[in-house]
Amino acid sequence: MPAPASIDAFKALAEWWDDMGVEVDDASVQAYLKVAERSAPPAATAAAAPVRRPRRKKINWVEEAEKAAIACDSVETLKAAIEKFDGSPLKQGAENTVVYDGTPGASLMIIGEGPGAEEDRKGLPFVGKAGQLLDKMLAAIHRDRTENAFITNVNYWRPPGNRNPEDEELAVCRPFVDRMIELAKPTLIVAAGGVPAKYLLDSSNGIMRLRGTEHVYTTASGFSVPLIPILHPAYLLRRPQDKSRAWRDLLLVEKRLNELGG
Ligand code: URA
Repeated sequence: MPAPASIDAFKALAEWWDDMGVEVDDASVQAYLKVAERSAPPAATAAAAPVRRPRRKKINWVEEAEKAAIACDSVETLKAAIEKFDGSPLKQGAENTVVYDGTPGASLMIIGEGPGAEEDRKGLPFVGKAGQLLDKMLAAIHRDRTENAFITNVNYWRPPGNRNPEDEELAVCRPFVDRMIELAKPTLIVAAGGVPAKYLLDSSNGIMRLRGTEHVYTTASGFSVPLIPILHPAYLLRRPQDKSRAWRDLLLVEKRLNELGG
C-alpha cells in the first residue's frame, strides 16, 4: 500500500507506464488506488489549520486619556472629552460621568475622591450628605460653589459599593485631573480626604499626617499649585469630634487664599 504522499506518485507512474506502452491492468490500478485513498488520513484542510486572527492591539488608556486631555482648551471641552472617554473600567457600572460643579476659574479648587450614589444619580460632585457638609465648610470661609469655588474629583465614575478607586482607575483619570487644573488655574487646591491627598502628593502618609499643612502639586507638564489636604466631610459626619481639626484647616485655607491674592 503506498503511503498517502505517494498516491499521486503512483498515479503518475501508472500514466507513464501507459504512455510508454507498458501493459497495465487498469482495473488493478483503480482498485489499488481506491484502497490506498480510503486508508489515507484526510489531508489537512484549511479549516483544520489553526486560524490566525489578527491580534487586537491592546489600548493604552492612560495614553488615550493624555491625548484627549491635551487636545482640550477649556474646562467645558475637557468635561465633554471626559464624558466621551471609555477607558475607565468603572464607567460601565456608573449611571453618570461626574466631572465638576461650581465656578470654573475660581481661585479655590476642591478635589475629592469620586462620586457616591447621589452624585452618580445627579451627575454632579458633592451633592449628597457629605456634599451638604462641604458646602457648610466652604460657607465658613466665605466660599460658595455658585460663586467662588470649583469642585471636582480624582475619579469620575462611582466605584461599586462606594469602595475606594483602585490605582489603574485613578491612573486613567490623572491626565484629565491635571488638564483640569491647568485650564481652571486655581490659586489653591484643597484635597478633600485621604484618597486625593495621598494620590496627588504621591505619599504613603495618612490624611491625619497630611492634613492642615501646605504642599505643592505639580501636573505632569509642570504646572504647580499649592495644595492643602483636609479631612473628608464624609469622615467628619462619622467623627464629628474631629470637626475642630477641620475648622483649623479651613482657617489655613482662607489665610493662604488671602495671602496668595485668591
Ligand atoms: N465624596 C467625594 O469625594 N466626592 C464626591 O463627589 C462625593 C463624595
